[in-house]
Amino acid sequence: MINTTHKTIIGDSRNLCEINDESIDLVVTSPPYPMIQMWDKSFSSISSKVNDALVRKDGQSAFEAMHHELDKTWNELYRVLKTGSFACINIGDATRTINGRFRLYPNHARIISAFLDIGFDALPVILWRKTTNAPNKFMGSGMLPSGAYVTLEHEYILIFRKGPKRDFSDPLHKNKRMESSFFWEERNKWFSDIWDFKGVIQNLNNRELRNRSAAFPLEMAYRLINMYSLYSDTILDPFAGTGTTSLAAIASGRSSIGVEIDKGFAPVILGQQKKFLDQANDLLHSRISSHNDFVASRSLAKGPLKYLNEPHGFAVMTRQETQIRLYRIAEIIAGGEYETKVKYELAGNLL
Ligand SMILES: C[S@@+](CC[C@H](N)C(=O)[O-])C[C@H]1O[C@@H](n2cnc3c(N)ncnc32)[C@H](O)[C@@H]1O
Repeated sequence: MINTTHKTIIGDSRNLCEINDESIDLVVTSPPYPMIQMWDKSFSSISSKVNDALVRKDGQSAFEAMHHELDKTWNELYRVLKTGSFACINIGDATRTINGRFRLYPNHARIISAFLDIGFDALPVILWRKTTNAPNKFMGSGMLPSGAYVTLEHEYILIFRKGPKRDFSDPLHKNKRMESSFFWEERNKWFSDIWDFKGVIQNLNNRELRNRSAAFPLEMAYRLINMYSLYSDTILDPFAGTGTTSLAAIASGRSSIGVEIDKGFAPVILGQQKKFLDQANDLLHSRISSHNDFVASRSLAKGPLKYLNEPHGFAVMTRQETQIRLYRIAEIIAGGEYETKVKYELAGNLL
């Protein structure tokens, strides 16, 4: 059986002194996006250089000064992450006209370069495709050549590793890895480099709050956590916002720490965690029913699958999936002012 703990720290992630060196197994996060207007105030409030550059209408200096602040958090991530662990950063580029000049501010490239300087290894990225049908999505001179710009309909999920591969040589660790595996058909979808979340679960029903917080889809954090960590690992989000990463950690049987500078988000984060039991268990059931649908259609097309999952009794494609254990949440309780505790039980026979 597993239990997890979810801590919220109201503070500034440029200094993560409350978190020990080499104590975090995975980072999943999305920072405020430099040069996107909705975050100007937030960057200006922590850096006079940002404010001065914006007042001077010096776009390049503002861009660099904003990234200079994010770099401080990236340095802290290197300290708190365990060797062999991953950091997944969701970021979009910005386009903006300043002083009559329209240009791209390539946030993703600037962040990759910062992570490489710190010592992380960069790995292949995921493109999150965000197709829009808005009539004003094309920018510039319309049908007249040479002054129109392609639309920005994607964001990035940048993936980095600290040092060499994680060591799974001791038997306990090896078993936990087998139990935390995902399905063959999930591997095929999750490890493709273009993600499109149309029609998948979102954690906030309130559209206004979603827009104000720039929350990412629950499904994004859920996939990344299952791809890059094991049961009972600790996941850190240094820009927690509404706490989507912590919800995905709860649903995945991992512990989490969320750091958020705006204390107004604390009741949102804790409130969502407290009432998440049904949604998390629904997520597990939809995962199981997708697997059962896959088994049915695959068996019909190619004959019975070769392997049986031991804890739950369903058919699976490969030997690596035979020990997967799926947990449903039994109870979510407050563990302190800024802490939530979760108890799980094995989901039993799922045939
Ligand atoms: C893009 S939002 C994150 C949204 C989050 N992924 C979600 O799903 O709700 C970035 C968040 O970082 C917070 N933030 C900005 N600077 C910060 C800092 N230095 N330390 C901690 N949080 C910060 C902002 O208040 C904002 O809530």
